Amino acid sequence: PVQGAIFDLDGVLTDTSELHYRAWKRLADEAGIPFTRADNEFLRGIPRRESLLRILKGRKVSEEKLQEMMERKNQYYVESISLLTKRDLLPGARSLLDSLKTAGIKIGLGSASRNALLVVEKLGIASLFDAIADGASVVHQKPAPDLFLHVAGLLGVSAEYCAVFEDAAAGIEAARAGGMWAIGIGPHERLKNAHWVYPGLNEISVTDLLDRLSGMKK
Ligand code: G6P
Ligand code: MG
Repeated sequence: PVQGAIFDLDGVLTDTSELHYRAWKRLADEAGIPFTRADNEFLRGIPRRESLLRILKGRKVSEEKLQEMMERKNQYYVESISLLTKRDLLPGARSLLDSLKTAGIKIGLGSASRNALLVVEKLGIASLFDAIADGASVVHQKPAPDLFLHVAGLLGVSAEYCAVFEDAAAGIEAARAGGMWAIGIGPHERLKNAHWVYPGLNEISVTDLLDRLSGMKK
């Protein structure tokens, strides 16, 4: 039985992937580096430093410059999230969180973003989580299972009874590596290794999902 639901944030509960894209794009334009929305798809779930290294594609940059670029991108990103409100929750997010709560399932947040707390506060959902962990909570980021295992520990739910909701391939790997159910949110092509995929949170019925998982093997 599923006793804990762990949510990724960016691209699952809200479309901040687009805001990450715009912040990276502005930085890349300033540096004269080509960067497209399609390139950004591969950065879903990827931590800040690793994202920048991928954008630089082997261009040599000093550690000092790397730090400066990461800070500048973050400044652009933080500016854009300051405008978020509860209207920026993706369709179905609020009602899914409410249904899980009603079903007695513990709810956790497992986001690689160091801005995660600020974002859930802006979205007006911070108080719905029984546990929140972000990019600063563990050393090894997704696809390592550490962040989700940490959240499961905070929820007091054993990993095998947790279901993770993720839009990124790295997050699906992390959930599987932790022995959890991996529920993909988004296109099948990106989420091939998920146990089950929904195009969006608004397609999920908690009872159907629980039924489905109870009849499945990991
Ligand atoms: C999430 C997003 C990534 C982002 C990462 C770090 O995983 O999907 O696009 O790079 O968080 O976010 P941060 O806000 O700490 O730079
Ligand atoms: Mg994500």
